[in-house]
Amino acid sequence: MTIATSAPWPYPAWIAHRGAGKLAPENTLAAFRHGADHGYRMFECDAKLSADGVVFLLHDDDLDRTTDGRGLAARQTWSTLSRLDAGSWHGRRWAGEPPCTLEALARWSLCNGLMLNIEIKPTPGQEEITGREVAVLARALWSAHPEAPPPLLSSFRPESLQGAMSSAPELPRGLLLHSLWTGWQEVARALNCGAIICHHPLWDDALVREIRQGGMRCLAYTVNDDDEVRRLQALGLDGLITDRVDRYAPTGVLGPA
Ligand code: G3P
Ligand code: MG
Repeated sequence: MTIATSAPWPYPAWIAHRGAGKLAPENTLAAFRHGADHGYRMFECDAKLSADGVVFLLHDDDLDRTTDGRGLAARQTWSTLSRLDAGSWHGRRWAGEPPCTLEALARWSLCNGLMLNIEIKPTPGQEEITGREVAVLARALWSAHPEAPPPLLSSFRPESLQGAMSSAPELPRGLLLHSLWTGWQEVARALNCGAIICHHPLWDDALVREIRQGGMRCLAYTVNDDDEVRRLQALGLDGLITDRVDRYAPTGVLGPA
């Protein structure tokens, strides 16, 4: 069995979800700045492709919830997407905040010595190409910064991780699991994943043991509750993705601030 995680693990124990959780408009540069203002050093984001192949940040397939646009985001060019308002839905304070490309977020992160977990969040039907394009871009951006920890590329979609592995095998990969579907172990092994990132209630002693025996790291999403933080801390997880950047101090030690 490949032991992918004999490799070093340079990432902090706390990762800010979508920039600053629910405190700022998700996946905008304003949100990542807000998370950084709370002391966070690593950020999760959701990356997908525009109609003209630009990698940009958006959680949903559609524009409706988090921008003033309508319909499937992947049908729009970046030129159109870049003019949308991705802040007003969250509050007047953020009005006019534009969507963000992965490149802009990466440059900001690298300039500030911060780290990224890039979730490959493909529009349905674009799983493999989105993985490839994210990895190609990430390799290009991080290659100029050999001192910086590489981005952790993650996805619920094995095809996306396969695409990432084919384009930039050196970038670490994490398989996201919302449930423990049959065969996930073989898939994680085939993709040479360094981490398994589970929906937090799935974690227990047996699962931690199994994943560690496979040489992988154990992370949880999205953890916003003190009791659950303590439970996961006792299990010895390697990282927690949280919305509550205002509640949990992003130190190396798990636990409420
Ligand atoms: O990457 C962890 C978490 O973000 C996965 O779920 O739906 O918030 O992207 P979601
Ligand atoms: Mg996500």
